[in-house]
Amino acid sequence: MHAEGSELPQIHAQLVVFAREVGELYTAERQRSRELESAISGIQAMYGQTMKAFAQVVEAKDACTRGHLERTQRYGMAIANRVAPELAARPEVAYGFFLHDIGKVGVPEQVLRKPGPLDAREWDVMRSHPAIGAQIIEPIRFLGEAVEIVRSHHEWFDGSGYPVGLAGEQIPLAARIFAIADSFDAMTSDRPYRSALPMEVAVGEIRDGAGTQFDPQAVAAFLELVDEGGIAVDDGDLVPVLAVLRAV
Ligand SMILES: [Fe+2]
Repeated sequence: MHAEGSELPQIHAQLVVFAREVGELYTAERQRSRELESAISGIQAMYGQTMKAFAQVVEAKDACTRGHLERTQRYGMAIANRVAPELAARPEVAYGFFLHDIGKVGVPEQVLRKPGPLDAREWDVMRSHPAIGAQIIEPIRFLGEAVEIVRSHHEWFDGSGYPVGLAGEQIPLAARIFAIADSFDAMTSDRPYRSALPMEVAVGEIRDGAGTQFDPQAVAAFLELVDEGGIAVDDGDLVPVLAVLRAV
C-alpha cells in the first residue's frame, strides 16, 4: 500500500508531461494541416488561373466577340442564383461556365471563324467541342461537376440537342441554366455572319424556346431578371447589372 501510494505523484507528473506532449503534437498537427490547406488552395487557384488562360486562348481563336466568357459567366451566375442558390455557390459551377467552350481548341479556325453558314461536315466538327472539352477537363478532379456543364451545354430540353440528346432533368441543372446565358449572349453579340440582334428579339427567342431548347423554370428566372433590369443592353454593349447577382 505504502509503495503504491508513493507512486501516485510520479504517475501524476508523467500524466502531466504526457498531456503536454499530446497538446504540443495537436498544435503542430493543426499548424501542418493549415499549411497543407493553404498549399492546396494555392494549387487550386493556380489551376483555376491556368484554366482561365486556356479558355481565353480559345476565345481569341473563336469567332465569338471578346468578353463572351465573362458575360456568359455573369448571366449564368445571375440565373443560377435565382433558380438554385446552393448550386451557384459551388465554385465548380463558375469554372464550368467559364470553361464551357474549351473543346473548341480542337476545332479548326476556318470552321470557328467561317463568315457564313457551316456545311454538314463542318457542323459535325463543331458539334464535337463539348465532348472534346469534357475529355480535356475530366482528369482535373477538383473541377468536379464543371465537366458536366462543358459536356452538356448544347443539350436541348426536348432531347434534340447534342452531343448525347439528353432531355429534361437528364441534363444537369447547371448546364440547362448555362444554355440560356450562352444563347442570349450569342444572339446579342456581333458574329462574322450577322450583326447583334436587338435585346427584345433575343429575349423573345429565349421565351419561345422554353420547353424546347430551354428549361422552362430557368427561362422564367431569366425573364424575371430581364424585367428587373438585371440583364440589360446599353448602347449596343451588354451590361449585366451585378447588383441583382449580389442581392440574391
Ligand atoms: Fe459551346
